[in-house]
Amino acid sequence: LPEPVLKKAAEQMLDYNGTGMCVMEMSHRSPEYEEIIKSAESSLRKLMNIPARYKVLFLQGGASSQFAMVPMNLIGKTGTADYIHTGTWSSKALSEAKKYGTVSVVASSEDKNFTYIPEADLGIFTKDASYVHITTNNTIEGTVYTKLPQTGEIPLVADMSSDILSREYDVTKFGIIYAGAQKNIGPAGLTVVIVREDLMGRQLPQTPAMFTYAIHAEHGSLYNTPPTYSVYIAKLVFEWLLDFGGVRAIEETNRKKAAMLYDFLDESRLFKAPVVKKDRSIMNIPFTLETDEQNKKFLKEVEKRGMVNLKGHRSVGGMRASIYNAMPVEGVKTLVNHMKQFEMENK
Ligand SMILES: Cc1ncc(COP(=O)(O)O)c(C=O)c1O
Repeated sequence: LPEPVLKKAAEQMLDYNGTGMCVMEMSHRSPEYEEIIKSAESSLRKLMNIPARYKVLFLQGGASSQFAMVPMNLIGKTGTADYIHTGTWSSKALSEAKKYGTVSVVASSEDKNFTYIPEADLGIFTKDASYVHITTNNTIEGTVYTKLPQTGEIPLVADMSSDILSREYDVTKFGIIYAGAQKNIGPAGLTVVIVREDLMGRQLPQTPAMFTYAIHAEHGSLYNTPPTYSVYIAKLVFEWLLDFGGVRAIEETNRKKAAMLYDFLDESRLFKAPVVKKDRSIMNIPFTLETDEQNKKFLKEVEKRGMVNLKGHRSVGGMRASIYNAMPVEGVKTLVNHMKQFEMENK
């Protein structure tokens, strides 16, 4: 999280705007809280340029709940859906969808350990698919769509958990966007869903109320007690990002941060980046050394210098730098400097 957000939250912990209460102690029906949730929504609308015909929902259960909620709400139209398989998270999404209908994996990059984004032309989609699901940024594998698949009339559904608000996306290209909050928005558990109005009301009859988009939309995300404090932190993050200059400004910074790391990786003779150049993520950058022993040695050395959470996922191995919006340029510079030093010492 951006440090100014944590500072502001600390300042307001015991007394939010003269109420004498912490936001956690407020009724979610109080005027003060309604103002918080409405303001969070309006800031997010501004940041992503979300048209009025899309609802913004603040839900719970993480992106993993959306793996079920999406098919429960959409697949009923025709009973079938298409998934593009690009890694660990898309695998979980499509396994869950199979419980509710027929799922076709229309493109996959499994053949090369998910180190690229497969081509997906309109011709590959099932004619009567209720939707096409993609994972815009693959957190573990470090790939990103640089060109969205053209799905024609079929709604495009995106798990945007690890790159929402990191770069500009045209919301009108999507039927649904969902994201777990814990990367670029706020505390884990909070889940943001942006859903086109005409896609609501198609839920399977047995869908629980808590899993029905239309019910949450009808109640302005206040059907039950929402994750009040998490929404408040998200509101502060959105305001921080607006002050930063919005998504375009942070995208520029994110591209600079990523380029510093990729430029070094490309010239290094010791470090390797597994992802094909054209599909490289600007949020998650996996890299490896030649042996596991070297990886361990590197991780140990950088940890001593205060750089943590750099171990790669076991499916990829090596290291992974997750450089979300709140990671300052300075943090990436420090990492690259230590990589250079490691290379000199271990040539
Ligand atoms: C792309 C993507 N999808 C889904 C998830 C799962 O999110 P959650 O833990 O909020 O359910 C993650 C978590 O890191 C993710 O990166």
